[in-house]
Amino acid sequence: MRIDILTLFPKMFAGFLNESIIKRAIEQKKVEINIIDFRKYSKAPHNRVDDYPYGGGAGMVLMPEPIFNAVDDLKGENTFIILCTPQGKVYDQKLAYDLTKREHIIIICGHYEGFDERIRTLADLEVSIGDFVLTGGEIPSMAITDSIVRLLDGVILEDSHMNDSFNNNLLDYPVYTKPQDFRGMKVPDVLLSGHHENIRKWRLEEQIKRTKLRRPDLLKKG
Ligand code: ADE
Repeated sequence: MRIDILTLFPKMFAGFLNESIIKRAIEQKKVEINIIDFRKYSKAPHNRVDDYPYGGGAGMVLMPEPIFNAVDDLKGENTFIILCTPQGKVYDQKLAYDLTKREHIIIICGHYEGFDERIRTLADLEVSIGDFVLTGGEIPSMAITDSIVRLLDGVILEDSHMNDSFNNNLLDYPVYTKPQDFRGMKVPDVLLSGHHENIRKWRLEEQIKRTKLRRPDLLKKG
């Protein structure tokens, strides 16, 4: 899989690409991630990428040309284009799974006060990572990329994401490690019993209990 991220702030991605699981996935060629500064696609003086909004109003608006030029340059036959915006479909684990099947994804990070409406015509999907507004699409693009890459074959043990929260619309069950008694808080006996069937049942019960309590909306998703 190849993911191209179009941004005006490529330095924001340095830590993301050079640590932990994402770094390893890139080294092991499970994914290719390119960070592209779309300013270089601007033909305006001083590589300008934004201008004042027609009709007036506060803030600057991203111009369509640099982003269209970048997409023209990068797009292939099987490219899926995501635009990060708080007005998009709210991202979830199911969408992360769906995106793992794509060969090539371009993620466009909006910035400043907004982007020219015509940029929307490029997108196959507009995605929001939640009902709050960030300064730009960089953090959403990292969140989306991270959620996809960890699901790619061989990136983490499949067992590790089989039980992820949101699979089957349930939150994950509680886990414990050493010591068995920490400041009076004990590991549940069933986990020490070695009885696999009882452990499986306990975990499922805990998932249901926790989801009912914290996220009853997930149970209604069916
Ligand atoms: N850009 C700014 N806020 C955002 C959000 N919540 N989701 C996706 N892109 C954004």
